[in-house]
Amino acid sequence: MRLSVFGCGYLGAVHAAAMASIGHKVVGVDVDPRKIESLAKGEAPFFEPGLQQLLTEGIASGRLSFTTDASAARGAKVHFVGVGTPQQAGGHAADLTYVNTAIDDLLPQLSAGDIVAGKSTVPVGTAAELAPRIAAAGAVLVWNPEFLREGWAVQDTIDPDRLVAGVPSGEEGQRAAEVLREVYHPAVAKGTPFIVTDYATAELVKVSANAFLATKISFINAMAEIAEATGADVTQLADAIGHDARIGRKFLGAGIGFGGGCLPKDIRAFAARAEELGRGESVNFLREVDAINLRRRERAVQLVVDGLGGSVYGKKVAVLGAAFKPHSDDVRDSPALDVAVRLNGLGADVVVTDPQAIENARRLHPQLTFEADRDETIRGAAAVVMVTEWDEYRRELSPEHAGSLTGGRVVVDGRNGLDAAAWRAAGWSYYGMGRP
Ligand code: UDX
Repeated sequence: MRLSVFGCGYLGAVHAAAMASIGHKVVGVDVDPRKIESLAKGEAPFFEPGLQQLLTEGIASGRLSFTTDASAARGAKVHFVGVGTPQQAGGHAADLTYVNTAIDDLLPQLSAGDIVAGKSTVPVGTAAELAPRIAAAGAVLVWNPEFLREGWAVQDTIDPDRLVAGVPSGEEGQRAAEVLREVYHPAVAKGTPFIVTDYATAELVKVSANAFLATKISFINAMAEIAEATGADVTQLADAIGHDARIGRKFLGAGIGFGGGCLPKDIRAFAARAEELGRGESVNFLREVDAINLRRRERAVQLVVDGLGGSVYGKKVAVLGAAFKPHSDDVRDSPALDVAVRLNGLGADVVVTDPQAIENARRLHPQLTFEADRDETIRGAAAVVMVTEWDEYRRELSPEHAGSLTGGRVVVDGRNGLDAAAWRAAGWSYYGMGRP
């Protein structure tokens, strides 16, 4: 099938490449010429495992192309919209500028019978507002939220846990759902749940899924705070409650909390939208979820200060990690970088390393010192702070080796990813999050 994808960021570029890999003919459209130039050459403009290969294969097969020219979308049967919906400047609501611009660019390209599939995360009610404009062009709008995780985006796109299609009522909606089933044929053929809903439900599925995940993380981080007051160990607690299948161990990793381009802004936008709907109290707890999450960053900083005897001023602190999570170069709202910035603000001589995210981090925080080499970062440091659990730090850095490089033996494990007993046995003062 011929497809177009508007927006070639973390979501759209992966979607375009993944759709080409399952046999569609896809054109990716973006307003950023630098991004398009890189993608058209088959070069991924950001780090996402597996993407590079799909781009190379897709372009070589002739099924995948990228352009800044929206008219290239003409003739495609389904047009995906996967542009960003960042947090508004000066507010908590979602900024829909890019969605509106993409729709404006797309409208003149539509033919009767086309389908526009919205993938961006939007406030509930957006699809219903956009639908009449798309219907006026003879096309049908469906809302098809995306649940991909960065770092696993290719796999999550080709083989998702579920597919959701919010469609208009009547035959036209059912027909549009059928076309989406064809688009996602390999997943549908293997029995992936395909849930057809109305617009509002589809939009809410996405934001409520992210709200639930954020709540789960903040729940365990709240338990970490209680553990800190009582001498309990939150990692054992998570293991124990996680054995209950109703609870599950996933997303019970206590640490410096969630960040990235989705969870933080999505829970804020959800609360803002609920407020507009007169239902603010229904999701008041999301404010607590956000507050708990942000407190944990400060806790990690406090552990470094305590570990260094009350002051970090003028002391070298090695920060391992800048990305908001491993297998990503994304530093948007990264708790790791936030910890580094706070330590820097306290006068520490902070050096930050990361296997993938240094370039992005430097652009955002040029005041910080970055070092590509892990061991050089650690050399001579008074304290080591692990804030993104890359294997390079979590598994491949032995406490003995680290100890041979550092000045002091203070380690703060912002992700509870290190083997505390091994680090202590090697003479380190180990500080975890919610652990004795
Ligand atoms: C998230 C959702 O998982 C995905 O379904 C949605 O489409 C987009 O938002 P992503 O932002 O890629 O995906 O990251 P995710 O893997 O969910 O992690 C989010 C943050 O939570 C990271 O900063 C991670 O370090 C943190 N996290 C995750 C924890 O602090 N503890 C955990 O147990 C799990």
